[in-house]
Amino acid sequence: MTVVGLGPMGAALADALLAHGHPTTVWNRSPHRAEPLVTRGARRADTITEAVAASPLVVVCLKDYEAMYAVLDPAADALSGRLVVNHSSGTPEEARAAASWADGHSVGYLDGAIMVPVPAVGRPDAVLLYSGPEPLFTAHRAALESLGGATYLGADPSLAVLYNTALLGMMYASLNGFLHAAALVGTAGVSVESFAGIALDWFLPSVIGTILRSEVPQIDARTYPGDAGSMEMNLTALDHIVRTSAEQGVDVDFPAALRTLAERAIAEGYAANNYSVMIEVFRKQRAAVS
Ligand SMILES: NC(=O)c1ccc[n+]([C@@H]2O[C@H](COP(=O)([O-])OP(=O)(O)OC[C@H]3O[C@@H](n4cnc5c(N)ncnc54)[C@H](OP(=O)(O)O)[C@@H]3O)[C@@H](O)[C@H]2O)c1
Repeated sequence: MTVVGLGPMGAALADALLAHGHPTTVWNRSPHRAEPLVTRGARRADTITEAVAASPLVVVCLKDYEAMYAVLDPAADALSGRLVVNHSSGTPEEARAAASWADGHSVGYLDGAIMVPVPAVGRPDAVLLYSGPEPLFTAHRAALESLGGATYLGADPSLAVLYNTALLGMMYASLNGFLHAAALVGTAGVSVESFAGIALDWFLPSVIGTILRSEVPQIDARTYPGDAGSMEMNLTALDHIVRTSAEQGVDVDFPAALRTLAERAIAEGYAANNYSVMIEVFRKQRAAVS
């Protein structure tokens, strides 16, 4: 196996391959980053061409897709007939363009997304997502499993980065929800530790997780019965959060943004539906942003 890109994440991928006993060749633009890996048994390639020629599977982990082209373009001939598994972060369009670039050079291509921090790489419970031609994933699955739990998403090469971005968006929304709530109860002198016992240990899994999970079939069916709670009711609740935040002297922008979204749903005719109808609001893009 060859690993191209030895930042914190690329070095962790190389270490995981070494730990699983794979002969591993490494290359990095700044060569000194290879030294600790060489000490642990990796072979350092002096040039990118030598690096990609050393193995049928080339694991790439660079800052972004632009860096990937800067590194791999000069070695495109040597890559022909090999498989590139690109773990660099980017957008779906960039992933599709990379798959076309690879195709144009007769290079196999899988796109990957690493969903765990550096210390978790190589553990079986680590989550790494892959997309691209299924036969390529199946043929190299065992090697990829050395990096962590490898989940295949589908043939469209953009799926891995699309899932990655969607899950990160969900993460930031959830983090903000908890942190705003902790700031709010903190105005009464409640420690975050004390609040976490209710918010994270019970409310998040048992209330939010359970309710949302039970509504998934209806969301897929695009039916949002509001008999147990309508958008009108939810708007009142969101208004209470805005007013309570103002009364307690904490940020109101975050709950106000949520209230604005609920108002938009009601203006679009969803007043009698349940909260999951918000997905219909999110499905429409209102203004282009860069
Ligand atoms: N670190 C994490 O926790 C984490 C988690 C999930 C996903 N990822 C993703 O993994 C990828 C790598 O992340 P990282 O944490 O290892 O560090 P990074 O700072 O994102 O990337 C560092 C690597 O990119 C190389 N690089 C940057 N620009 C380059 C260029 N123009 N030409 C050639 N090489 C270039 C660096 O080479 P030099 O050493 O020569 O500068 C180094 O090998 C990123 O896409 C990141 O989003 C990281």
